[in-house]
Amino acid sequence: MAVIVNSKPQEIKPGECLINTINRSGALIPQVCHHPQLGPIQTCDTCMVEVDGKLVRACGTAAMDGMQVETKSPRAQAAQREAFDHILGNHLLYCTVCDNNNGDCTIHNTAVHLEIEHQDTPFQSKPYEVDSSNPFYRYDPQQCILCGRCVEACQNLQVNETLSIRWEDPQPRVLWDGGALIGNSSCVSCGHCVTVCPCNALMEKSMLGHTGYFTGMPVHALKGMIDIVKGVESEIGFSSIMQLSEVEAYMRESQIQRNKTVCTYCGVGCSFDIWTKDRHILKVEPLDGPANGVSTCIKGKFGWDYVNSPDRLTKPLIREQDRFREASWDEALNLVARRFSEIKTAHGPDALAFISSSKCTNEESYLMQKLARAVIGTNNMDNCSRYCQAPATTGLFRTVGYGGDSGSISDIEQAGLVLIIGSNTAESHPVLATRVKRAHKLRGQKLIVSDLREHEMARRADIFLHPRPGTDLVWLSAVTRYIFENGLAKRGFIDQWVGNEEAYRKSLDPFTLEMASERCGLPQETLIQVARMIAEAGSVCILWAMGVTQHVMGSDTSTAISNLLLATGNYMRPGTGAYPLRGHNNVQGASDHGSMPNYFPGYQKVDDPAIRAKFEKAWNVALPAQPGLDNHMMIDAIHDGRLKSMYVIGEEMSLVDSNAGYVAAALEKLDFFVMQEIFFSQTCRFADVILPGSPSLEKEGTFTSTERRIQRLYQVMEPLEGSRPDWRIVIDIANRLGAKWTYKHTSEIYEEIASLTPLMAGVTYERLEGYKSLQWPVAPDGSDQPLLYTEQFNTPSGKAQFFPLMWTEPSNQPDDVYDLHLNNGRLLEHFHEGNMTYRTEGIREKVPCTFIEVSPELASERGIEAGTWLQLTSPFGEVKAQALITKRVAGKELYMPMNSSEEPVNLLTSSCTDKVTHTPAYKETSVRLTVLNRKSESPLPRTDPRFGHPTPQTGVEVERKWARSDYHPPGNGLVQIETRTAVRAGQEK
Ligand code: SF4
Ligand code: SF4
Ligand code: SF4
Ligand code: FES
Repeated sequence: MAVIVNSKPQEIKPGECLINTINRSGALIPQVCHHPQLGPIQTCDTCMVEVDGKLVRACGTAAMDGMQVETKSPRAQAAQREAFDHILGNHLLYCTVCDNNNGDCTIHNTAVHLEIEHQDTPFQSKPYEVDSSNPFYRYDPQQCILCGRCVEACQNLQVNETLSIRWEDPQPRVLWDGGALIGNSSCVSCGHCVTVCPCNALMEKSMLGHTGYFTGMPVHALKGMIDIVKGVESEIGFSSIMQLSEVEAYMRESQIQRNKTVCTYCGVGCSFDIWTKDRHILKVEPLDGPANGVSTCIKGKFGWDYVNSPDRLTKPLIREQDRFREASWDEALNLVARRFSEIKTAHGPDALAFISSSKCTNEESYLMQKLARAVIGTNNMDNCSRYCQAPATTGLFRTVGYGGDSGSISDIEQAGLVLIIGSNTAESHPVLATRVKRAHKLRGQKLIVSDLREHEMARRADIFLHPRPGTDLVWLSAVTRYIFENGLAKRGFIDQWVGNEEAYRKSLDPFTLEMASERCGLPQETLIQVARMIAEAGSVCILWAMGVTQHVMGSDTSTAISNLLLATGNYMRPGTGAYPLRGHNNVQGASDHGSMPNYFPGYQKVDDPAIRAKFEKAWNVALPAQPGLDNHMMIDAIHDGRLKSMYVIGEEMSLVDSNAGYVAAALEKLDFFVMQEIFFSQTCRFADVILPGSPSLEKEGTFTSTERRIQRLYQVMEPLEGSRPDWRIVIDIANRLGAKWTYKHTSEIYEEIASLTPLMAGVTYERLEGYKSLQWPVAPDGSDQPLLYTEQFNTPSGKAQFFPLMWTEPSNQPDDVYDLHLNNGRLLEHFHEGNMTYRTEGIREKVPCTFIEVSPELASERGIEAGTWLQLTSPFGEVKAQALITKRVAGKELYMPMNSSEEPVNLLTSSCTDKVTHTPAYKETSVRLTVLNRKSESPLPRTDPRFGHPTPQTGVEVERKWARSDYHPPGNGLVQIETRTAVRAGQEK
């Protein structure tokens, strides 16, 4: 299959647009509105080519075998120039003083490519002001060429559906919520629109006035310069002015650095370039990240001010009674080494415990567990996956063998049906959620959501299930039983690939539809509908998160999910599988690299003599044989007097661990507590020594995202003076304890990891260079597995196993005293307690504090209004916050996000845990509500996007532009060969 481009054959890919074929051929054609990740938009008309003698838009035409394409015929070129001339009527060229003149401006580059000397269509000013009401970006209608890329990105990639263009207006412009100020709209500040804008109409505020040599001038001076240039332009032509601006753009390169990094917030694993000028972050530019393409959320795109916060720790601190004093690095490190040695000598190595940070790199987690095991001699080692994802890992280990997502985000996108359980995906994993929203909107993917809250994904779902708290296992098992009993199970798949069916099916006996309906509060008909949809969908992915795992049945419910996937044959194929969504950016990697009490890196068991012997030989030490304490057990061990000392990197334990008061009381009892942090966190209050570490932008290393994707991050800026990269600090401590580690660069650490860890055997920094990535397991030859289980399951027999389950009641159910159920979790804008995100002013402006979501019915019953101060009391503590009345919650169920250090929700949560993994049952909390007599405004400002009114539409709807009476396609005789919808359908296949 090939087309002939300018007399040369060019192979075509099935369903692709002609523009992509032409671009691969090397023929250069203008293409202003086209963006490879957005598909055909067809607003600019600059990509005109002749196909078999007819003029067509290359971006709106499907490539067909045998097409004769002319990109440089006189007709094509005349049409291209005419179309671009119309664009210049909407855009004033003042490149030399434009912050977007950085070599990548589409308008500038197209003007140069077409060798434009003069424009026929005069620039026509639009009667609209610049809109700067969003804290992070501004829109300048004067410069907007109405290409619609931003609309397409917002409607169909981010699927926030805020942007539109009302083509029928006399002078159209981009509209937010149909005409609101940006700051008052539903815009969630994801930045997609700014990223894809081909010119300076949408720009990051952090770029303005900072990028060019002349762009920082006062507005009136800039305007004067523009007027002078425009005055001479008609005489001297564009090209000489363009040359000047190109020289200036070239000069900018010497002062602007661009470095690739990986987002440090959630587990989606977005990667992007960060532009900096010294320590000033000009912008975050997603290019073509393997997980995210051009996508970001508010945190990844705009949430980096914390790096330059004046609150950063830059000196080690040592406690003296109830105060801290600054100390030199030598003094602090010597003290740490001395006290660790003394405690080890006095009480044994198991009197010490270590917690690595899920925000740190793989290399840092590896070194931390090596310090614990090889230098101190204890397996008391953990990371915060204990707080969230350990139950999911257990469920997968029990059934299919690998404790990670079965496939990639692209599998989720191509699934026939996505089932989301206990995950507020649009807020907790925003970019991953966009792929589901997009497939659901454009491709008819089916979506079922089970959650206590009617959050965005629930609102979009074809079926929204609201089971009683903690009962997901029941309805999942009932649905699976129904599937078996009605001949809907995938018999051939089970016979070939799944063991232990009989015992499992027997365990399903109690889970009748009647029982599930009664216990979960869900209609039987709905459960049957769910069962049939799952069984009949061609491919199913199930996504889950802490709404499942943070229960006493967390491991078992995760197992029930995997059982259901096995029963319906939804493993081993693209578009299928189990997706526990990892919370922190590197919580997967911290576990993968051995920060666990029972595993060396790569889930190699510490109590396996052969494995231990391998590590003993490599590290030249004797290693402890018994699994150590996990971080839940550590707290009990401190209270019991068995644990005397802890070394914690970047974990806000005193707020994020459940039953925070009990945790704080434990930390107070420690003989010697070392915290490594970038800010003086709440947990630092309990420390004896505080060591200033570095955030991700100041170091090299690798992160592993939820889809098991290992990616490199490059140093964007030097460590802030006085702070040190965490891996260097761990080395400093180890060597003071006699370790003699000689790592000079993080790549050397990874070489050692790969040599000892079959799961990562083929991982090298070279194979991860730039935007390259690997999804474990990685074989020695570097081949990886984006989709797991394509040949067999990861068990000794190669078969998966059904795992029989029983049901037990959730803990802490509401009673007469504590009569309301309290749910808790994340928010889009803040990461956890907000230690990093509150330091971005724009985020603070949108979400200044925590709040308590109250249902309208409960509000009316208790006389609560928006902003009313409430006190919540549980058996473990109390917190105060303002009410937000919303239909997202129903009846007697409350929700409180975790974004507060002052009133942390975990003062209310209990010490009950999942039985297998000790993950706290955060989601099983009952409280009593007291209405305080303090009334105030709503805790969220009216500028919060939750109050906006989106305007969903199918995209930019260019057909409405073409219907305008003043629209004339360039180059008389345009033929619309394919409609945009047809081309897109081809692309989506
Ligand atoms: S939500 Fe806001 S920032 Fe994101 S694409 Fe839409 S308008 Fe742009
Ligand atoms: S603001 Fe939107 S429509 Fe205007 S030029 Fe930028 S991407 Fe195109
Ligand atoms: S979705 Fe997650 S990884 Fe991506 S930008 Fe947002 S916080 Fe960062
Ligand atoms: S690139 Fe704009 S119409 Fe084709």
